[in-house]
Amino acid sequence: MSNERIPQLKDYSEASLTRAFAALEAEARSAAATLLSSEAVENFRLAWLGRKQGLLNEVSSLWLKSAPAEAKKILGQRFNALKATVESLLDSALGAGPSDASLAAEAIDITLPGTRRLTGAEHPITRTLNELTSIFAALGYSVGVGPEVETDFYNFESMNFPPGHPARDTQDTLVIANQDRRPLRDRLLLRTHTSPVQMRTMESQPPPVRIIIPGKVHRNDAADATHSPIFHQVEGLCVDTNITFSDLKGTLDHAMKALFGSAVKTRFFPSFFPFTEPSADVQISCPFCGGKGCRKCKHSGWIELLGCGMVDPAVFAFAAEKQPAYDPKKISGFAFGMGVERIAMMKYGVSEIGKFYSGDMRFLEMFA
Ligand code: DAH
Repeated sequence: MSNERIPQLKDYSEASLTRAFAALEAEARSAAATLLSSEAVENFRLAWLGRKQGLLNEVSSLWLKSAPAEAKKILGQRFNALKATVESLLDSALGAGPSDASLAAEAIDITLPGTRRLTGAEHPITRTLNELTSIFAALGYSVGVGPEVETDFYNFESMNFPPGHPARDTQDTLVIANQDRRPLRDRLLLRTHTSPVQMRTMESQPPPVRIIIPGKVHRNDAADATHSPIFHQVEGLCVDTNITFSDLKGTLDHAMKALFGSAVKTRFFPSFFPFTEPSADVQISCPFCGGKGCRKCKHSGWIELLGCGMVDPAVFAFAAEKQPAYDPKKISGFAFGMGVERIAMMKYGVSEIGKFYSGDMRFLEMFA
């Protein structure tokens, strides 16, 4: 057997063994020095340590097997030393990871600037909703929610708008199509106000109730500078023993001062809502001119901001069907409702309601 890569062994003297093994070791070292890829490392392993065609296997066949018995020991020792060297060369090639050259080829320039992400900010409507909610939370109110797709019963009938009553015409309603076969009270519509959540809350818990209801409402109104078919309201309801109109006045006066500053005054005008009796509209002294009169308040010094009143006994009667404790002889309460966009427009000096919904970053960034 012969192999041109393997030197001939002239004899088994110490000197010729040293020369022969040194030549192989030098070859292994120079091959190991150029291993750039994992593929090259694997090829090195196969070439030197492969079971069939590996060079060491062949050295063993050529040199060891044909050696005379007295030379076998020394040959074996040299062979094992060479094998250990090749294995350690392989180990360090495997452990060394990718070479400098392959790393340089894959390098990315981490000094390039990254993609800058803008910090989020509350939308002015959300901010106003949250501000109103926390003013009432500080007075002990909890937050209530209800569905935006509401039944005729909760949106109208239970709030004392009987079927066919002209009070329904004050809220141009978007109704869900194809429900003619359902009883009127079960027909679905997009809630026109947050007031139905008053009834849902009372049905689910006995008095006392102090609840603030922020939410989205829908009306079939044409959009203009101050109207949008989708807008937001904050509703309030307080029911307990001995709740009076003075409690209502004090609560709303406090809330308006908290919202617009302590210099703001409130005044109450008689009004009408089906679910309150008596009802009132609340005006605040113009926060722009301090009440002297300006374009914003149409030179009256006052701006109308919300509706309110004492809960109508007819509303308590609907609640009492599920919660008998809502007995108008034993308890009383007040309610109020306000438009959030209108308040946000005043607070932030916005003259077109559509700005809130247009998603224009230049507008939204002013609130960041
Ligand atoms: N729901 C009324 C509306 O949308 C607003 C309102 C007025 C709510 C008086 C109330 C209230 O709770 O007492 O026009």
